[in-house]
Amino acid sequence: MTEACGSGLWSVHKEDSVDSTQQWVRDRLSILPDRSVVLAGTQSEGRGRAGRKWESPPGGLYASFLWKPAPAVEHAAVVSLVAALALADILEDHGIHCLVKWPNDVVISDKKVAGIIAESGGRTPSWLIMGMGANLRTVPAVTGRVVLPPGAWIMFGEPPEPEELLWKLINRIELLWPDREEDPIAGIIERLNSRLWNLGKEVTLQAGDDMITGVIEGLRPDGSLILSTDSGERRFVSGELLTVH
Ligand code: BTN
Repeated sequence: MTEACGSGLWSVHKEDSVDSTQQWVRDRLSILPDRSVVLAGTQSEGRGRAGRKWESPPGGLYASFLWKPAPAVEHAAVVSLVAALALADILEDHGIHCLVKWPNDVVISDKKVAGIIAESGGRTPSWLIMGMGANLRTVPAVTGRVVLPPGAWIMFGEPPEPEELLWKLINRIELLWPDREEDPIAGIIERLNSRLWNLGKEVTLQAGDDMITGVIEGLRPDGSLILSTDSGERRFVSGELLTVH
């Protein structure tokens, strides 16, 4: 079933099942307007970061948001951080304390409940697709190496329905980032830093082929991560935080 409705700003498309909402948007890049979002009941080929699969059983939130042209931010990680903070704010509204694991996860009690992926490309126009997967009622089976075990919102309280959560996300993202010409991070950096997973703790970061160990000092106003390492302070615009010592 395809259903479309609008919020004034965003056009929302609802699908029962797709391969991947990221792919659904990519396949329709030429016809979808700026600020389109698709919500799917399930995904058969949900995509995680670094080529991983995102298990997508019924009941979770699987959505991809399109910006066309891509927002004028330096790094796609900025968009992931806005989306992560939007979800974190909504969880707090429900009385659930959570943290943002840089650059793109939302974590409750050291369990990953949501992941975000940002893909961009194109020239005229450029585009950016931000995909969010949130485990609401079921903890998906995850195979292979995981940094944090998966969790689901229901372990900590009653979750909203996926569509209700989607509207809350749309509203919160607009609130956090009303002007696409502006970089949003400067205005929300303090709140992001106060919610940063493992702030002040030693971690290992995988950046490309490099493994860097250091203490998380916080985020810079451009959304990059600062680690204090043996060779001094280092700044990263992408990477994956792997382990805590
Ligand atoms: C990660 O943590 O690895 C990112 C996971 C992103 C999953 C979402 S679910 C909706 C959208 N469609 C996809 O295929 N992937 C993203």
